Amino acid sequence: MRILVTGVGGQVGGALVPRLQKLGTVIPIDVDTLDFAKPDGLAEAVARLAPDLIVNPAAYTAVDKAEDEPDLARAVNATAPGIMARWAAARAVPLIHFSTDYVFSGAGERPWREDDEPAPLSTYGATKLAGDNAIRAAGGGGLVLRTSWVYAAQGKNFLRTIARLARERKELRIVADQIGAPTTAALLADAVAAIVGDGLDRLRARCAQAQGLAHITASGETSWHGFACAIVEGLRARGVALAVEKIVPIRTDEYPTPAQRPRNSRLDLTRLHQVFGLTPPTWQAALAPELDQLAGELTAAR
Ligand SMILES: NC(=O)c1ccc[n+]([C@@H]2O[C@H](COP(=O)([O-])OP(=O)(O)OC[C@H]3O[C@@H](n4cnc5c(N)ncnc54)[C@H](OP(=O)(O)O)[C@@H]3O)[C@@H](O)[C@H]2O)c1
Repeated sequence: MRILVTGVGGQVGGALVPRLQKLGTVIPIDVDTLDFAKPDGLAEAVARLAPDLIVNPAAYTAVDKAEDEPDLARAVNATAPGIMARWAAARAVPLIHFSTDYVFSGAGERPWREDDEPAPLSTYGATKLAGDNAIRAAGGGGLVLRTSWVYAAQGKNFLRTIARLARERKELRIVADQIGAPTTAALLADAVAAIVGDGLDRLRARCAQAQGLAHITASGETSWHGFACAIVEGLRARGVALAVEKIVPIRTDEYPTPAQRPRNSRLDLTRLHQVFGLTPPTWQAALAPELDQLAGELTAAR
């Protein structure tokens, strides 16, 4: 099986490659091989690579910058995935694509279900939703996996930002009124490997059963403030020297950003469990190995 994996320099793409290499021949794609910002010729390029399966975590993920670069964000997040999806659908090649909690408005308290009406607050969220719709409209065996708050021991993310700030500052002020589930790239890659590992026919059947859309995050929920506290406690427990003494919970309006984020980012995992048989670990359990890795890196660098 030839598995085309995009965004291999990113968090999820980087985690997918070693896992999918156990299941087939991975064709790793980065922005230099296929630039999604230039969708012309994309279908022909994919055809030359002749994949049996496409896994697409590549995306324009700079949420705030997207407010100033809507055309680029739309090309990468919607136009290019739509082209790949139409190519794949015409050949019955399954496509697994990643999307986001930012397609939702963040109203209410209950976890968002797959059939809830999206209403993105940001350009990033709108372009990701356009990608979801393009893939589902292609009508093939596509699967859009919506996730939230992705991080890894490596990469540019909240975990590494908090680890840096906690070493530099005595006080951190962190948003406490946005609720969601921090989700590791490893958890997502393990889930994709499990889904693909049952074979492409089973994958096609389950994608159809899921109507091409499923939510996937770690289990449980917290705020960014709760996540930051767990990171600091976890790093300290692993012997990392930190300057931070106080982590102050603040409201979203005390930390203004160009792009608006949903307050309620909870995603309902019922379909993931019922259709794919997956019950993700809690966010705390998934955090532990990332903290082990990061603490190892930070203590070795001392
Ligand atoms: N990060 C989150 O918190 C989060 C939350 C919910 C959903 N998601 C979704 O989960 C998926 C994976 O996210 P991630 O955290 O792994 O993102 P990431 O670390 O930012 O990686 C994105 C990848 O996309 C590539 N890319 C960007 N522009 C491209 C272009 N023009 N052509 C081809 N490739 C391009 C990047 O390449 P370069 O490294 O070369 O730029 C990078 O490898 C995305 O679909 C994202 O929307 C992420």
